[in-house]
Formats: sequence, structure tokens, C-alpha cells
Amino acid sequence: MVATPYYIYDTKLLKDTLDAINKAASTIENSHVHYAVKACTNPKVLDIICEAGLGIDCVSGGEIETVINAGFNPNSIMFAGVGKADWEIQTALDNNIFCFVVESIPELEVINEIAGKNNKIAQVCLRINPNVGAHTHANIVTGLSENKFGINMDDMMDVIKKCSDLANIKFMGLHFHIGSQILDMKDFEALCRRINELQDKLEAANIRAEIIDVGGGLGIDYDNPEENPIPDFDSYFSVFRNTLKLRPKQQLHFELGRSVVGQCGRLITKVLYVKKSGPKQFAIVDAGFTDLIRPALYNARHKIINLSNTGDDLETYDVVGPICESSDVFDKDVRLSKTKRGDVLAILSAGAYGEIMASQYNCRKLPQGYTTEDIMTDNK
Ligand code: LLP
Repeated sequence: MVATPYYIYDTKLLKDTLDAINKAASTIENSHVHYAVKACTNPKVLDIICEAGLGIDCVSGGEIETVINAGFNPNSIMFAGVGKADWEIQTALDNNIFCFVVESIPELEVINEIAGKNNKIAQVCLRINPNVGAHTHANIVTGLSENKFGINMDDMMDVIKKCSDLANIKFMGLHFHIGSQILDMKDFEALCRRINELQDKLEAANIRAEIIDVGGGLGIDYDNPEENPIPDFDSYFSVFRNTLKLRPKQQLHFELGRSVVGQCGRLITKVLYVKKSGPKQFAIVDAGFTDLIRPALYNARHKIINLSNTGDDLETYDVVGPICESSDVFDKDVRLSKTKRGDVLAILSAGAYGEIMASQYNCRKLPQGYTTEDIMTDNK
């Protein structure tokens, strides 16, 4: 038996999700889906995503190394990030990645200089801040002009001109990303309309963008994960198919993270103690925010179930971790089947931004990640 707390990834659900993505994306000509690897780098999860043929969206040199070691084609890597260090740019050039996503003129100049020293041409998309709001948590909104990301729309033409002045830069197109956990398709429609306006501007100046990259952001159903294990990719891709006016042969790129892996992962934890305190009842578990930080950081809610008791003897608990911080709470007033020491709980929808955001605060051990196949073998 494996020690709790640990992550477990449902490989069948992951494969079904990837099939749904590939099917829905194939309705758009010249579309390319990249997996935003920041969501989860569990090696077995990466193997399955690689097999399904997705490209990659990276935001660090470490991610570039990780995905290349996992077998992804470097020529499918978009490399974004607001602060790329010189060694990361060098790593990207050494590996001949597909395209840098550039967020400022100073960054463009540094990439040009390093590419020049290497006798290489760096392909570049410009990340434009479209000033389109997404209806999601403030910490994961990125597309407003007050956010640190991207190039202001009004500066777009100047930065494209700057690209043509730099000998080792090739302008490839435009990149956008408005935020994460977006469930209202109108937000993506607003993005598409903004891109249409910007494309008209480019056309008027006789500039061709080979690539439009619309980033990621599609949300998942945290409230009813068992009823909705696979996000509604048909609606998502059809927004772009119907609203975006692509030019002939233009490539359309997507960078999906959460919607690819979110529902296939859960955090398994054991109840250490049940403690009554005034009107409250706490289920103190062996996982903490070091294992899953989303509730503490974003007030995110993940559905919790008791795997050891599935009866209808429901009681109300605050499910909390052992870390010495009052924010170490997974959820308050959770209705769980009667819970006792030794029961195993599952915290659902934790495949994205779960294991990868774990830390060792309090000198805790990092949680391990397993797949459903590993556990079946272990139990034999
Ligand atoms: N592309 C770019 C440029 C991004 O910054 C992100 C996510 C993605 C794609 C993928 O977005 P997704 O499809 O996963 O929404 N840790 C937070 C989420 C941070 C998202 C950061 N950027 C959370 O746990 O909710």
C-alpha cells in the first residue's frame, strides 16, 4: 500500500479527455493544441499527453528540459513567460524550440542578441495584452492592462516594426492569454473580437501573422466533477471557429492546461483525528497546503469525499491539514459521511496545479504521484 498523502491520476479519463480535445480541435483547420505543462509534469501524465500528439507551452528553462526529456518534439514548444533569464533563452535556442512568446522590447533585444551570438534566428510571437477581462479569480486574470503580462495593444505596431529591425528575430504572429478557470464562453468571444480588430490593423499595414495563439484558460467543473469529468471542448473550440476571422493558411494555436489534466487527478489523504471544538467538528488530515495549495491561495473549492464510508450518515466537518498556519484548510462546512480516524478521503479535481505546486514547508515530504494502473498493480 502506498503512503498518504498522494496524487492519483486516472489514465483512462486522461486519454478520453485528450480524445475529446483532438476531436473538437480537428474541426478547425490548421489548429494546434499545446499542453500548458505548468499544470502538471507527472511523468506518466506527460507520456500519455505526448502520445496523444499535443505540443507544449513552457514558461521556464526547467519546463523545456522536462518536456524534452519526456520525449516531446522541441519543434512543438511555445516558450512564454514575462521574465526569461539568459540561460533559459540559451536553453530554448540550443533545443531549437518552435517559438518564443515575447512580452517586451527589452526582452526582444536580449533574445536577438543571444540568438545572434549563436548564429540563429529566433521565431517570435508577441504577447499582446488585449485588455479583455475574464470572469474568474483576481489572482488568475491576466489579460487586463493593469496586469504585468504582455505588450500594450497600442504599442503592437511599434514592437512589430522593432522585430523587423532586429537581424536575428523573425516575427511569427500574435499571442494572447486572458486568464484561467474561465467558464463563460463570452470571455473567449470577447477575445476573438479583439483579435479580429488587431488583425484588421495588421492587414492595413500589410503585415502577415502566420500564427494566432489564443492561450489557454478553459475551466473545469469543480462543483460536480463526477457528473462533468470532461470539459465542454466542443463549445470552447466552436467559439473560435465561429468568431475568429482567420486569414488563409493562418495557424491557430491553443495552450490548454487545467482542462487537460484537472479532472483526472485527485489527492488522497488519511484522517488523523476528528476533533470537536464548540460547534465545530474538524477532520484533521495528513495532507496540507504543502500538497495542494489552491484552497489557501485562491479560495478554490475542491469537492471532498470519504472513500472509506460512502453511507448516508452525513455530518459537517471543516477539513484541515496539519500545517501551522490557519489558512491550512481544504474546505469548511463540508458534508461528509461520518468520518473517523484512519478513513481515506479524496480531494477531487486536483490534477492541475496540484502536485506541481507542492512545497516542503514545515520540512514536509513532497506528495508522490501514481496512476490508476500503479495502484492496481500495488494492490495485487
Ligand atoms: N498559457 C499561458 C501563457 C498561461 O499563463 C497559462 C496559465 C496557460 C496557458 C494555461 O492556462 P489554463 O488552460 O491552465 O487555464 N495556479 C493557478 C492557475 C495559474 C495559471 C497560469 N497560467 C490555479 O491553480 O488556478
